[in-house]
Amino acid sequence: MHIEKKIKIKPQSTDYQVDIPDLEKIIIDCNGISGGLIPLLQRIQDRFTFIPPQAFKLIDKELNIPESESLGVATFYTQFKLNPTGKYTIKICKGTACHVQNANKIFDVISEYLQIKPGETTEDQLFTLELVSCLGCCSLAPAIMIGEETYGKLDDRSVISIIKEIQDRESK
Ligand code: FES
Repeated sequence: MHIEKKIKIKPQSTDYQVDIPDLEKIIIDCNGISGGLIPLLQRIQDRFTFIPPQAFKLIDKELNIPESESLGVATFYTQFKLNPTGKYTIKICKGTACHVQNANKIFDVISEYLQIKPGETTEDQLFTLELVSCLGCCSLAPAIMIGEETYGKLDDRSVISIIKEIQDRESK
């Protein structure tokens, strides 16, 4: 697949320590499987929670594709993350039902409390923030998911106490 150069590629930190032999093994094992690049990127993300910057050159070489093509594909599809995610991903619903029930306020208090924006991860690597268009539980609006748990009918106080509870639990 050829991805045009107009895609804006966000710079990636090169400080991430990853298990390079493990990364190489995944790339070599996946070479030749049907669909090629996308399943390979998915496997790498499953293993590392994101696509490490070291992966792209290795992939281009192993799959014998033009330089930066794998980076272009990873940047094009929103399913791929170029930075490590936290232990918990907080998905804040901005769909219509949640929007009319003040989802913006929920977003603002979480973002301010954790000091992160969508796509960012807290320094302690506990939380990553994501905005989604519907969580499929509109009757619970405004709703969020933290990890696999869904929380609904939230207000600015209840949502912060849920996050604090997780922080307390994780600090023990
Ligand atoms: S719109 Fe938020 S859960 Fe559907």
